[in-house]
Amino acid sequence: MAPRAIITGAAGLIGQYLVKTAPRWAPGWDVTGLSRAELELTESLKVEARIHALKPDLLIHCAALSRTKACEQDPDQAHCINVEATAHLAQLSQDIPFIFLSSGEVFDGKTGWYVETDEPNPINVYGQTKLEAEQAVLKNPTHTVIRIVLTAGTSEASDKSFVEDMCRTAKAGKDVTLYADEFRCPLPAGVIARTIWELVDRKQPGLYHLGGSERLSRWEIGESLLPWYPELQGHLIKGSSRNHVGSLRPADLSLRCDKIQRLLSFRITGFREWLAGRSRLGADLWDYLDGSP
Ligand SMILES: NC(=O)c1ccc[n+]([C@@H]2O[C@H](COP(=O)([O-])OP(=O)(O)OC[C@H]3O[C@@H](n4cnc5c(N)ncnc54)[C@H](OP(=O)(O)O)[C@@H]3O)[C@@H](O)[C@H]2O)c1
Repeated sequence: MAPRAIITGAAGLIGQYLVKTAPRWAPGWDVTGLSRAELELTESLKVEARIHALKPDLLIHCAALSRTKACEQDPDQAHCINVEATAHLAQLSQDIPFIFLSSGEVFDGKTGWYVETDEPNPINVYGQTKLEAEQAVLKNPTHTVIRIVLTAGTSEASDKSFVEDMCRTAKAGKDVTLYADEFRCPLPAGVIARTIWELVDRKQPGLYHLGGSERLSRWEIGESLLPWYPELQGHLIKGSSRNHVGSLRPADLSLRCDKIQRLLSFRITGFREWLAGRSRLGADLWDYLDGSP
């Protein structure tokens, strides 16, 4: 019988890609995706019963309160979902591999190009909860934390990725302000899913950074998407984080990914190189089966 993998947050952006890509990148696994509708992760007794019933051999934990604004608005809920539910799942998975998706937001963004040994210093509630959850997960040396940053792709309801957010805003006739002085290293969700499945195979637990190899400003990211999304034309406004109102945002969350790269069978490219590769293939931009050029 094939070993069973459980994926939480299966209706979320990355969870969807993990489930969809499994037949290609993880054919030896019997994959069960759990959405919030199927299992509310804050109901600990139900979670325990479900995990015991499913008897997984691997758990990939993607569920989270993942929007920075929602975390600032309700820090208690953010703690409950991002920290307590994660620690509980990690404890239920104490004898199996457990992979937790964290975020570059554990850093303050003052320097950029962070490596795994750099000291975290979160500046918002989301980053604080992710760091606390990481610490709970990494108490178990057989468990894994992968820090990612801005993730591109499409979701079933078209409401999960930053690309979908931008297009929705533009289609409503509104402008999208993109900071030219805020830097990220985006990756498509399909590449993240392929990387996670390869990491499962490598059996090398620990802390990893995973981002595109090119550091781009939000403005550059928006510009790079224009050829693919003509509806954005005329709606992208170049702005500065100096004028930002709201929760604190790290300025530069570029991540060095040499540690994870050494384990992979393919090269993690920069976002613009990846897009250029897609143009050459003439493929559907976010086609999850290709993963990377
Ligand atoms: N996407 C990015 O750019 C990015 C960057 C850095 C880190 N990450 C991390 O990567 C992971 C996956 O991100 P993502 O983009 O796939 O997030 P996402 O699209 O927001 O998906 C998260 C999923 O978790 C579910 N969820 C939330 N609370 C839950 C609960 N109490 N019980 C059960 N399910 C619950 C959500 O369900 P509902 O939709 O019903 O609320 C949602 O489907 C998260 O840990 C996120 O923090 C993502």
